[in-house]
Amino acid sequence: MYSIKQISSQDSFAVRLPVLRPGKSIESCIFEGDNLPTTVHFGIFDNETLAGIVSVFKAYTTLLSHEKQFQLRGMAVLDTYQKKGLGEKLIKAAEEYILKNNGGAIWFNAREIAVGFYNKMGYEITGQPFTIEDIGTHYVMYKTV
Ligand SMILES: CC(C)(COP(=O)(O)OP(=O)(O)OC[C@H]1O[C@@H](n2cnc3c(N)ncnc32)[C@H](O)[C@@H]1OP(=O)(O)O)[C@@H](O)C(=O)NCCC(=O)NCCS
Repeated sequence: MYSIKQISSQDSFAVRLPVLRPGKSIESCIFEGDNLPTTVHFGIFDNETLAGIVSVFKAYTTLLSHEKQFQLRGMAVLDTYQKKGLGEKLIKAAEEYILKNNGGAIWFNAREIAVGFYNKMGYEITGQPFTIEDIGTHYVMYKTV
């Protein structure tokens, strides 16, 4: 039985580290703005085990002209829990939260390997691909809710 709750940024490191920053230090899991009052972190739990995470930031990209924009960051599901629908549940929880805050454009920097996942969630690419050092090719993807 899975449940989604708001968590602290520190709690999210248990998933950020192995999935998004493998082999790196715990400090590499800290994102600028993690503790701002406008930032929220969601975790999906399998009973007591944190299995996946996503964070919502109030941040803007010049690629979009929407007045209200939200950035998703740190979307990750533990290896053993991937492809079981948890990522989809997390995206929906973030979208619900954004809708409750009167909606807007949702965007993020998507790793190339995750573009297919986000397409299934209704997101599209805008702009040109770009490289993030040590991680690889990314695309800005977005959707309006
Ligand atoms: C990308 C990620 C968040 C997806 O989460 P998940 O829980 O495995 O995804 P779900 O099981 O909810 O998948 C939902 C749908 O997307 C599909 N999907 C999942 N990952 C996919 C991928 N990488 N490429 C294409 N489709 C994918 C699933 O097959 C499923 O489709 P279906 O409903 O037709 O069966 C997860 O695999 C992950 O953490 N990957 C490593 C870290 C990462 O790349 N994060 C994104 C950084 S931008």
